[in-house]
Amino acid sequence: MSATPTTELTVIVLAAGGGTRMKSKTMKVLHPIGGRSMIGHVLAAVGGLEPSRVVTVVGHQREQVGGHVLELMPDAVLAVQEEQLGTGHAVRVAVEAAGRGLAGTVLVAYGDTPLLTAESLRDFAAEHRAAQAAVSILSGVVENPFGYGRVVRDDMGEVVAIVEEKDASREQREITEINSGILAFDAAFLVEALPRIGNDNAKGEYYLTDTVQLARDAGLTVTAHPIDDVAQTEGANDRVQLAELGRVLNDRIVTGWMRAGVTVMDPGSTWIDADAVLAQDVTILPGTQLLGATVVAEDAVIGPDTTLQDCEIGVGARVVRTHAQLAVIGAEANVGPFSYLRPGTVLGAGGKVGGFVETKNAQIGDGAKVPHLSYVGDAEIGEGTNIGAGTIFANYDGVEKHRTVIGRHARTASNNTFVAPVEIGDGAATGAGTVVRRDVPPGSLAVSSGPQRNLRGWTVRRRAGTKQAQAAIEADPGLGRPAPDAEES
Ligand code: UD1
Ligand code: CA
Repeated sequence: MSATPTTELTVIVLAAGGGTRMKSKTMKVLHPIGGRSMIGHVLAAVGGLEPSRVVTVVGHQREQVGGHVLELMPDAVLAVQEEQLGTGHAVRVAVEAAGRGLAGTVLVAYGDTPLLTAESLRDFAAEHRAAQAAVSILSGVVENPFGYGRVVRDDMGEVVAIVEEKDASREQREITEINSGILAFDAAFLVEALPRIGNDNAKGEYYLTDTVQLARDAGLTVTAHPIDDVAQTEGANDRVQLAELGRVLNDRIVTGWMRAGVTVMDPGSTWIDADAVLAQDVTILPGTQLLGATVVAEDAVIGPDTTLQDCEIGVGARVVRTHAQLAVIGAEANVGPFSYLRPGTVLGAGGKVGGFVETKNAQIGDGAKVPHLSYVGDAEIGEGTNIGAGTIFANYDGVEKHRTVIGRHARTASNNTFVAPVEIGDGAATGAGTVVRRDVPPGSLAVSSGPQRNLRGWTVRRRAGTKQAQAAIEADPGLGRPAPDAEES
């Protein structure tokens, strides 16, 4: 099937409502779920249809919502609905904003249905066109229809109306086929019908759903297409529903990756955002979150208990109990357990960042290793270099940040401090406890801690009467006899 629409398609996304039940300073449609805003998911699905035009109706917090929409879809049209007078009014505002020449099909969706897929929308639009209907309803059959508009059919099964909960008769309330809110219209009919919608109803609102009766009165076709996966049209009105939809969305994503060849040991404790990409034969261990635009290459093993946000993981890499953000981990590299990789970390192929190591803005070369208990900030470490345990890259002098550059195949010893800006040359070395304040030329050994002095009998004299002194005398009875401080080398 061709991706280009056969007829003109305009999609209207309604997002003017306040969403007070979220109890939030953030507008409902901007709440995140699966790594995108709710409206972000809707716009992604809508974008999949390659419509000729997308109009988003904004009202409450229009700056935030409108700005976000334009970031995701720069050529979307924003229509401002000053007062929320109902869905019919909202679509009228959208049609006015769309300008003259609205033709073909108009699809109306809501901004708070994050599970909606492009495929479902595409199928629905195709069914609408095939039926040559004036109005088509994406309906759903639900156990508890309370609160929804009911799809009323006649004896022949033809759709005659949508009746809102508050306007429904007792029998109509028994109907379990509901209006999902997603409607498709013949553009010419919609333009002509919108001004004729009144607000003489229980809510005093302009109901978009009144178009059904208007079409019927004009002898035009109205069809309803029940969707199998009702969750796709569900909105999240409060945070409980947001979490429920989040679980459903995650389940869909995780299942999709398993079907694509990813091993997920514990789907229930694995969270993968919509924009993450995983290759075949990746293994995900329990308690792992792959967030944002994280990309994981073949044969990598991630987890347990690992969070990766916007990271790139190379082929066969192993990342254990790690928290990483905007980091690149090379092929066959090893990270963790208990590592913290901050933005700008790039670990080369076969490299290692080990336990209790924090890195930030650090380029660590191929095969280079920072295995234990270190802070590596604003650094470049050459290929094959090994950093000793407990090393601190002192990048901040209290005013400015500076870089440390270490060459290839260097060996730095334990408990070093590199006071940036400083350079350590290729093949250089340092002694334990060295504080490197000056550059170390290639091949040099840098030592900064003074020669060790052993003061004979010091504890016996200065800690007389303690268990420490007693133990010393027991080991060397000669220490019990008085003598001046003497130094052994
Ligand atoms: C609407 C439908 C109902 C359907 C239900 C599905 C109508 C009259 N009723 O009811 O048949 O079963 O959705 O959830 O259409 N909005 C605006 N401007 C407005 C009013 C609403 O942008 O003036 C937006 C809201 O932000 C929301 C959507 O439209 O995203 C639906 O509005 P809402 O008030 O929730 O409609 P319901 O009463 O639930
Ligand atoms: Ca609603």
